[in-house]
Amino acid sequence: MSLKGQRVIVVGGSSGMGLGCAKSAAEAGAEVIIASHSPEKLEAAKATLAQESVSSAVLDITDEAAVKTFFSSTGGFDHLIITASGVGTGPFVKMDNALAKNFFDIKFWGAYSCAKYAAPVIAKQGSITFVSGVASRRPMRGLACAGACNGALEALGKALAAELAPIRVNTISPGLIDTPLYAMMPEEKKAAFFDATAKQLPAKRIGYPNDIAEAAMLLMTNGFITGTVLDVDGGNMVA
Ligand SMILES: NC(=O)c1ccc[n+]([C@@H]2O[C@H](COP(=O)([O-])OP(=O)(O)OC[C@H]3O[C@@H](n4cnc5c(N)ncnc54)[C@H](OP(=O)(O)O)[C@@H]3O)[C@@H](O)[C@H]2O)c1
Repeated sequence: MSLKGQRVIVVGGSSGMGLGCAKSAAEAGAEVIIASHSPEKLEAAKATLAQESVSSAVLDITDEAAVKTFFSSTGGFDHLIITASGVGTGPFVKMDNALAKNFFDIKFWGAYSCAKYAAPVIAKQGSITFVSGVASRRPMRGLACAGACNGALEALGKALAAELAPIRVNTISPGLIDTPLYAMMPEEKKAAFFDATAKQLPAKRIGYPNDIAEAAMLLMTNGFITGTVLDVDGGNMVA
């Protein structure tokens, strides 16, 4: 299946993996809408994409009414990718519940609302792709909240693959990917973290947004894949 002439919406498309997915889809001939919360980030992202077939929309996915309005105005489209997330890491006992709930509000409930209000307008041959993360099945210190949220999303993806069929629903589970998510880390600390992780992985490197984009392209274009969790993690699960 080709993406040429298809309409793709990437929620979280202003940064990191979402931006990578938007770029690949646009290069494959799709009309792409990138949506996220910050108008400045969207403008900057659009400038890097520099494709006439890319437009942007300001959308805060924690606002259910705004999500409903957005998908009632998009018209029919083919594929939805949701990469949007905040930061929800910290020691379990010390981390504020408010921070954990905010993380779920964006990453889980935001994705839930997007899928719910998008489903009626997605083509029957189309797809929805969620993004979880290795912490759902690879417990790590400081990632209890993120892991629980990823597990919830993976379960939602499988449930929706059954309930929304023939629309296909899949989840990509990334390992460590070099994105602006780590922008707050001091450069030296970040480089040491990336280097140490790369050494532990069978792939002997960390991932890049393009690795996730290639997986998203597969899930959008292969009409026989649904209900899966696709690990794109450099072998983290078997390390
Ligand atoms: N990077 C990694 O190593 C890694 C590993 C495992 C899993 N993951 C997961 O992979 C996904 C993508 O991460 P990434 O690294 O690409 O992160 P990123 O570069 O920080 O991008 C996150 C995106 O979410 C958007 N966003 C945040 N809050 C939003 C809201 N309320 N409404 C709409 N959009 C919102 C951001 O745009 P605005 O700021 O404009 O809203 C941005 O476009 C996330 O679910 C993350 O948890 C990442």
